[in-house]
Amino acid sequence: MKTITIESSFTVYDDIKELPNDVIDLMQEAIEARKNAYAPYSKFQVGAAILLDNGEIVIGSNQENAAYPSGMCAERTAIFYASAKFPKAKFLKMALTAGSLDHETNTPIPPCGACRQAISEYEIKQDSTIEIYFMGVKGKVIKSDSLANLLPLGFDSSHL
Ligand code: THU
Repeated sequence: MKTITIESSFTVYDDIKELPNDVIDLMQEAIEARKNAYAPYSKFQVGAAILLDNGEIVIGSNQENAAYPSGMCAERTAIFYASAKFPKAKFLKMALTAGSLDHETNTPIPPCGACRQAISEYEIKQDSTIEIYFMGVKGKVIKSDSLANLLPLGFDSSHL
């Protein structure tokens, strides 16, 4: 028997203004996407923006449904559309922002487990890391250099 330790480290920015300029622009796209989320049930709006290596930016927002499980998260809305529209492009950076319409959301909101799994598929497929930046509506922004940092011991095609 032995213990294995897996460490992840993240960069914390105090404010969106501290981010590199291209990431500020990407986060602004995510913020606009968040405002257009269709979230009448949870009143929790999420926006995502992905920068591709062809220079394109693809956005997504959460899309809810009266049959709750039929809805979709912002991150997967964005990555599935990006892969459908630009199947050969690599994902370089993702910016995520989330906030409740009922209360202030000032802490960074990380992607859910299902979205981590979905993003992981593309990081492995393209064989290069995807930077993930996530925030609430205002306040701190957390950067992960790779999706892998957010999903230790992940399941992938090598396990099939
Ligand atoms: N949501 C996302 O869009 N992304 C996440 O990573 C977490 C949750 C959405 C799903 C649902 O519409 C709402 O936020 C509340 O869970």
